[in-house]
Amino acid sequence: MKRAKIGIAGGTGGMGRWFESYFTKAGHEVRIAGRKTELTYEDLVHGCDVVILSMPLEASVRVAERIGPKMDEDQLLMDFCSRKEAIVKAMVSSTQADVIGTHPMFGPCTESIKGRNVILCPARDNHGWFEWINELLASGGAVVSVMDPKVHDQKMAVVQSLTHFLTISFARFLQKSGIIPEDAMSYATPIFRLKMNLAGRLFAQDPLLYADLVGGNDSAGEVLDLFFSAMKESRQALLAGDDKQANIFLEDIRNFFTDGFSRNALDETTRAIEAMYNK
Ligand SMILES: NC(=O)c1ccc[n+]([C@@H]2O[C@H](COP(=O)([O-])OP(=O)(O)OC[C@H]3O[C@@H](n4cnc5c(N)ncnc54)[C@H](OP(=O)(O)O)[C@@H]3O)[C@@H](O)[C@H]2O)c1
Repeated sequence: MKRAKIGIAGGTGGMGRWFESYFTKAGHEVRIAGRKTELTYEDLVHGCDVVILSMPLEASVRVAERIGPKMDEDQLLMDFCSRKEAIVKAMVSSTQADVIGTHPMFGPCTESIKGRNVILCPARDNHGWFEWINELLASGGAVVSVMDPKVHDQKMAVVQSLTHFLTISFARFLQKSGIIPEDAMSYATPIFRLKMNLAGRLFAQDPLLYADLVGGNDSAGEVLDLFFSAMKESRQALLAGDDKQANIFLEDIRNFFTDGFSRNALDETTRAIEAMYNK
């Protein structure tokens, strides 16, 4: 694999630091810049083969517009933003360099990239950079997929917007019910403990990041409407006091999941639950 000089703009942040370490261990030379570092985002353009934008979406768009025109055709411009349509569009229109949108589907607390999903949105690839980044990620065991930016954002409305919306709403429910989280742990089942932990985990991080992942996605409203209708249907089927109706409803959903998927889900969650108690 070509040994590259990689510049991470926003490299002082969590994801930037994580990838600085990953790329360095893979044998590449990495430079990082933040807003207060001596090295500027513009400096990265002059000294590096690859420049990665690892900062909030709006800042990434602005920095792409600023540094993109200064890049040469044979360089690569990438980003790590959690939504792809706007940033990929901004990168393509701002530069002649190759452009590959990238979304690592994990955060900076992750120990290893092995088995973790990374989504690539290649938008311009005239110099073999797609093969390079694909190999660099796959060599650490990442599971790499290629996706259209718009399709990516629609999928994230479920994977991120809906998922975090549910966790936040569950936490709000606990608060409104007067349930004290520490007390609840003494009467929790493993599944309830897992859900409590997921809620606690979200609020141990920057809540504004989650607010953006839920509210910043254009498809989130549509996804939530469908989810609310599924909730209403579930309430009707399960709380009507009609066992036969409840059974038909649940069998219908069970048929949606293949046996292989459900068995694997049972194994994976059992391991996660055991890990919670065996610290
Ligand atoms: N955290 C995650 O779990 C995760 C997972 C996947 C993808 N992502 C995406 O990865 C990107 C970086 O996330 P992160 O968690 O590493 O963020 P972070 O820890 O908050 O780091 C943000 C970086 O961007 C710089 N920055 C912030 N605002 C800026 C601005 N207005 N103009 C220029 N630079 C600015 C910061 O520089 P200073 O040092 O000057 O503050 C810092 O280096 C985001 O697009 C995020 O959506 C995050």
